[in-house]
Amino acid sequence: MKSGLEDVVAAETVLSDVDGQAGRLIIRGVSLDDLVGSRYEDALALLWSGFFDLPSDLPGALAQARKEVFRHVGAADSSLSPVDAIRALTALIPDGDDLGTALQLVAAPAVFTPAILRLQAGARPLPPQTGLGHAADILQMLTGETPSPRQAAALDAYLVTVSDHGLNASTFTARVIASTGAGLTSAVLGALGALKGPLHGGAPGPVLDMLDAIGTAENAEPWIEAALTRGDRLMGFGHRIYRVRDPRADALKSALRPLTASGEVDASRVALAEGVETAALALLKRKKPDRPLDTNVEFYTALLLEALGFPRSAFTCVFTMGRTGGWIAHAREQATTGRLIRPQSRYVGPMPQQAA
Ligand code: ACO
Repeated sequence: MKSGLEDVVAAETVLSDVDGQAGRLIIRGVSLDDLVGSRYEDALALLWSGFFDLPSDLPGALAQARKEVFRHVGAADSSLSPVDAIRALTALIPDGDDLGTALQLVAAPAVFTPAILRLQAGARPLPPQTGLGHAADILQMLTGETPSPRQAAALDAYLVTVSDHGLNASTFTARVIASTGAGLTSAVLGALGALKGPLHGGAPGPVLDMLDAIGTAENAEPWIEAALTRGDRLMGFGHRIYRVRDPRADALKSALRPLTASGEVDASRVALAEGVETAALALLKRKKPDRPLDTNVEFYTALLLEALGFPRSAFTCVFTMGRTGGWIAHAREQATTGRLIRPQSRYVGPMPQQAA
């Protein structure tokens, strides 16, 4: 048995390749570095090609889906955490395998997250607007203002960067569910449940908590040294596959630069993060010499999403906005080319007593 299924190959996929030794991510034949300037709609077209009959105007079809799911916002329970609230609303989308269901599932976190956040702040949810791209519309629904092209491009860069990433825990969950013949809504809901844990998509909020607790670049070394001595894990570092720097961390660090240059990100926050990263990498090397631990995607995710105005309670929801496209592609791939996923367990419990 392989603990945590480490190194076990459980699917063949044409969707993405994670090379943990080289620090390289390929999405459908395109290196992340080349894909990251695209809009999220282009990444969706790439991931979904061959799995759906795609319309010539996919951005328009997605905009229409945003309008369709907005009708569910009235059922929102704003007493729930944002991720629990979007999961409950997404469950209102009937199960299906068609493009319409897929588009609604991608539109769901994009529309529901701003709506929940506004309700929690005592404001009225804002409907999607025709004529805006997916990323710009999300920011418009969040703030009520049309975002700058730099802000929309930064959110696009984030959504594209996290759109797919091999057989991670949430994608595997989606594939297991799809392998039973259940529909896309079920696969996406299960995947979202797997994503929300702090060891997967729940880490970037705690990254900001760590930056707040450290406070100044000078305090980084003693704070991190004490945390590692206690046996704590540093959020935003380490990965099951990457043994070098996660290429997504660099993609997001680059996406932050135009916002820093224009003053849309607090430069002192970025400087603090860079100081913490430098100290953390040096101390991890010294304290965990047997385990190569480097920066993962969540570290710069935290800074980018904070700069775009998302509260840390909603970071997992924004991750969901990007990853849902990948989950759906994997669910379709599993349903069309795979078999029922049904591994075995090794029983280590007691056996029945023999009658004397
Ligand atoms: N800080 C300190 N030590 C760490 C860290 C870390 N962030 N990550 C791993 N380690 C140490 C462990 O304590 C362990 O040390 P030990 O052998 O001395 O006990 C060793 O490295 C191996 O740890 P595992 O848990 O076996 O490694 P695994 O591959 O299962 O962990 C994980 C991967 C869960 C991401 C881990 O690195 C972690 O907890 N990181 C912090 C949380 C985080 O950033 N999560 C986001 C990941 S990216 C994503 O999912 C999108």
